[in-house]
Amino acid sequence: MSELRNPIIVALDVPHPDAALELARRLAPVVGAFKIGKELFVSAGPDIVRRIREAGGSVFLDLKFHDIPHTVAKAVEAAVRLDVQLLTVHTSGGLTMMQAAQRAAEESASRAGKPKPLVLGVTVLTSLNTNDLAEVGVPQDVAAQVERLAGLATRAGLGGLVCSPLEIPRLRQFLPAAMQLVTPGIRPADSPADDQKRTLTPAEALAAGANWLVIGRPIYAAPNPRAAAEKILASLRL
Ligand code: C5P
Repeated sequence: MSELRNPIIVALDVPHPDAALELARRLAPVVGAFKIGKELFVSAGPDIVRRIREAGGSVFLDLKFHDIPHTVAKAVEAAVRLDVQLLTVHTSGGLTMMQAAQRAAEESASRAGKPKPLVLGVTVLTSLNTNDLAEVGVPQDVAAQVERLAGLATRAGLGGLVCSPLEIPRLRQFLPAAMQLVTPGIRPADSPADDQKRTLTPAEALAAGANWLVIGRPIYAAPNPRAAAEKILASLRL
């Protein structure tokens, strides 16, 4: 994981693989990694990961695995064979599932002679509120459930969590310092919020304790994505 160039992870939320690859080629020298989500992966297939790796980009495979431990472990192994650097699992899949994912990441990377990928836990999706949790039988409020699942991910040995920028200060109070926090909801001061409701600037998010920043539209929808990424990088004063 130390191979990432810097904390900027560009969300490749574009439907067409050619557009994703073109962005990756232009941005690879100035950003840390590229996030491939379900839409791009399902439409472009694993080949998009290989092509981005060939273009010199690191890959965050955000497929949010959630299944029985054996199935998740096999999916993680396949992701390691594809040579991804970060990947996600749902913490609500439970302790044993997360342990199986982490073990699969470590063992398959070691077998392949590669650095182990960062396995990140997703806690409560930001699309869910306390009412939604109650509907699926979770009596706690969102904040308490996030903390509970974050603690479970730590016990399972995961390397980090995906969280909203506003969850970072609280999580940093009780998580081990080595736990890596990846946060979307990032907006440079001069970018529109789009549909993001609670945002921090890139520098604010790092100051709050984030390790990695997932940034989509402020980069890929900019008139010059590379210049936008370079400006954000400069604002981080690394
Ligand atoms: O374009 P924007 O910077 O808002 O993109 C943010 C990325 O992070 C998108 O891929 C979005 O799906 C993802 N994300 C998010 N909020 C979450 C979880 C993921 O914005 N809570």
